[in-house]
Amino acid sequence: MTLHTLSELIDEGVRGRHILIRSDLNVPLDGSNVTDDGRIKASLPVIKALADAGARVLVSAHLGRPKGAPEAKYSLAPAVARLSELAPELNAVLAADTTGPAAQAAAADLADGSVLVLQNVRFDARETSKVDGERAAFATELAALTGSNGAYVDDAFGAVHRKHASVYDIAKVLPSYQGDLVRTELEVLRKLTSDSERPYVVVLGGSKVSDKLAVIDNLIGKADSILVGGGMLFTFLAAQGHKVGSSLLEVDQIPVVQDYLKRAAAAGTNFVLPTDVVVAAGFAADAAHEVVAADAIESSAFGASGLGLDIGPDSAAAFATAISGAKTVFWNGPMGVFEFPAFAAGTKAVAQALAANTSNGGFNVVGGGDSAAAVRTLGFADDAFGHISTGGGASLEFLEGKELPGLNALDR
Ligand code: 3PG
Ligand code: MG
Repeated sequence: MTLHTLSELIDEGVRGRHILIRSDLNVPLDGSNVTDDGRIKASLPVIKALADAGARVLVSAHLGRPKGAPEAKYSLAPAVARLSELAPELNAVLAADTTGPAAQAAAADLADGSVLVLQNVRFDARETSKVDGERAAFATELAALTGSNGAYVDDAFGAVHRKHASVYDIAKVLPSYQGDLVRTELEVLRKLTSDSERPYVVVLGGSKVSDKLAVIDNLIGKADSILVGGGMLFTFLAAQGHKVGSSLLEVDQIPVVQDYLKRAAAAGTNFVLPTDVVVAAGFAADAAHEVVAADAIESSAFGASGLGLDIGPDSAAAFATAISGAKTVFWNGPMGVFEFPAFAAGTKAVAQALAANTSNGGFNVVGGGDSAAAVRTLGFADDAFGHISTGGGASLEFLEGKELPGLNALDR
């Protein structure tokens, strides 16, 4: 694969040229307030490098999953406001549309070293169309904003697993380059797929087991241990024959999980499941709750209506011990409903264990939108970990061994 780099592009000369950067500015919002600006911060270096080199910078990005038409709640305005707070010197402005008359006029007027963010690419249905020709037409419109001497830089690591016009088709229309964020993310993730220093411990959580099956499949035999928490743990407990009350359960995945447990035992990968669970009377921040053994969830005061919302303290301690012995750790997915303080202890314990292991020289990667937001919400600094990936789905698909369309498109 030959991927051209950002420094190659800058060496070629960008002053006065329109350079289109695809960034991942898909940040969580509370109304018009950005609650985790990690992706904006991670996108700034490449935007700045090109602006500093005198390029007329166009940024394309998505936010949320609008249905192919403009919708105020998915406007990139809050993301651009935060970007401007972090880097006022860029004088970034948001175009009123994506490739329409407003974007065209603003792009034509761009001064050297200034930045125009195009409105949400998903406001145009062609961005995510399954019809190749529709996506190609949209990519051609995006490219046209760059005039006759443009180039494209893919820096949206979090979106490289999407076969969308602004990450895939565009690379066929403009000379394409790999942004530094994409390059660093790949360097880090490669260390998790081959020649990983052992012991290699993977911590998986999050609500749905079905989202994690492919990555588990690919890590059996590669990881020494896989620790399982979050909503998905209940499907594992059910696969072992335990009752889980009203906890999250994907019944149809039970046979798959049973197969994985068998295969893992044969391949030398040790699944570590919680031995205790925090069970609550209902899904609420102030729900009554108690700690029970993982194989006796229905023995709580709430009986069969109790639902597990976090791993218990013994499990958190066991997970921390497993993490502390590791040379390499990958973590994706919270251990419980960390948004409610009463059910955040498991996630916090895992984050603390990764931070301690990082100080002790271990290589610790936090993968994914939710886990990244979780560690920041719980007050951890970004540099407490070896690496916090900006990609949720993208990092998982990379670890699954899948082809990533956005990367393949950059090969030229
Ligand atoms: C993400 O949040 O994982 C990326 O920004 C991609 O967003 P998507 O899952 O809506 O394609
Ligand atoms: Mg996502």
